[in-house]
Amino acid sequence: MTDLLAVFGRLHPLLLHLPIGLLAGLVALELVLWARRAIPPAGFMSVWAWMTAASAVVTATAGYVLSREPGYAGETVTNHLRLGIAFAVSSILVAILQSRERYRWAYRVALLASLGLLLPAGHLGATITHGEGFLTEPLRAARPAPDASGDVSTFAGIVQPILEQKCLACHSEAKHKGGLVLHSPETIQAGGFDGPVIVAGDPGRSELMRRLRLPLADEDHMPPDGKPQPTAQEIAAIEAWIAAGAPFEGVVTAIVQPVPVSETPQPVDPAATVAPATPQALEALRQQLVHVEPVESGSPLLWVDFAAAAQRTGDAEAQALLDPVRDQVAELSLSRCQISDATVPLLARMPHLRRLDLRTTLVTDAGVAALRNHAVLEELVLAQTRLSEASVDHLLALPALRRLYLWNSGVSGEGVARLRAALPDVVVDAGDRPDAAVVQAEAAIQLTSDAPLPGQEDTPADLKPVNSVCPVSGSPVNPKYSILFNGRVVGFCCPNCPKEFWADPARFEAKLQ
Ligand code: HEC
Repeated sequence: MTDLLAVFGRLHPLLLHLPIGLLAGLVALELVLWARRAIPPAGFMSVWAWMTAASAVVTATAGYVLSREPGYAGETVTNHLRLGIAFAVSSILVAILQSRERYRWAYRVALLASLGLLLPAGHLGATITHGEGFLTEPLRAARPAPDASGDVSTFAGIVQPILEQKCLACHSEAKHKGGLVLHSPETIQAGGFDGPVIVAGDPGRSELMRRLRLPLADEDHMPPDGKPQPTAQEIAAIEAWIAAGAPFEGVVTAIVQPVPVSETPQPVDPAATVAPATPQALEALRQQLVHVEPVESGSPLLWVDFAAAAQRTGDAEAQALLDPVRDQVAELSLSRCQISDATVPLLARMPHLRRLDLRTTLVTDAGVAALRNHAVLEELVLAQTRLSEASVDHLLALPALRRLYLWNSGVSGEGVARLRAALPDVVVDAGDRPDAAVVQAEAAIQLTSDAPLPGQEDTPADLKPVNSVCPVSGSPVNPKYSILFNGRVVGFCCPNCPKEFWADPARFEAKLQ
């Protein structure tokens, strides 16, 4: 195909508006004349009818040229082409019959026939451009919500609708962009011009994943810039499906149901709807030396920290103390408590829980699974626990997650990489990114001659933290991890907390004590 011819073919989407408008005008004029029993100016209607016919012929020809381009195939294209040619022929007939007084009725029939051909032709054209079901999409009910157990994780239930909405406009039976058709299991497996686009079980080597994950500005990014993009969760769902072996049948528990954007819980002012905790519940916590205070003054929401009671707190103790304040807890540290997975379901039922510290507890994958789909949990500390890869999928199912700490949690580097790839907006700290600006305030080697005077502490006084409890985690401070903040030395429990502190000092400053 010569280049100029190809350009002519691509004018089809522009040209097609001409015959549509002209034919509509012709029909409207005929109706007006018929209703008023009026006689049109000689030749006027004939010129109009011939203009309609000419534009129809040019448009159909351009459409034919366009359909020869690679990437257009299938029944929809063939039918669209046939209807378009039939429309061009019938509009020529209309033009011929228009000027013959004797064939008045034949003319009107031909005119109606043209209209009758134009409507389905236009509809199929829209299907080719925008994908199957474009016209009726607003009428279809929203996708059924999965039942609460999340047991509808099938290809047809989750992955297929994403492909339909975000890919089929270009990779359908009618349009084979890149030689790729994402319409059926067979065509998905067949892949595109460059071969298979999915390697079952290995998202990392799947071309389809690579394209989805490329930066939007990259030429190869899919869907191309300017087209509706899948959400991060939809991409994660496709990835989980491929990782699970890309099965077209059966339930894949690994696929996480993406939260439709419109149904994402809107942030409400939580304080407005929460009743304050009872004095008895607060007193019981304080009796056990559990630190509890409002997250901000006047708020019924609570910051609860078991640091001082950690050694004595097992599942039974934690549950007995926490159940009465279930609705109020917003920030909770159970760090170093002797709690297991048994306590996590209670935490999962805390509707306002935003920050949860479970470091150095006996929590395992089953505990993390219990937190799945928690609507507001933003920060989760799982450092020093005994998790495995299985937790990765559970963590992917936390829609509000913003910060995740996995240092020494048992989740492998590969699992961490998978999380980072699937959750680009989430800070995933696995202790492997040494970007914390920590002043290593380790006591300097002391020579006998500068030994401290009797009564002086071992740590140089000017580097002694002003606080004894880490403002981020609530765990005891290790003076090794200190920073200088507003002229004061602030201590933390681990090398990760200073980073968090720097991200938003105002939030933690009040907790310095
Ligand atoms: C607006 C049109 C359009 C949409 C929408 C679109 N693509 Fe594409 N796609 C193309 C074009 C054009 C090509 C061929 C050019 C290229 O390779 O970049 C292509 C090529 C591809 C290829 C490479 C095929 C091969 O073997 O070379 C993959 C994989 C792909 N698309 C996946 C997707 C996925 C997945 C979606 C939906 C999330 C999607 N595309 C949505 C236009 C589109």
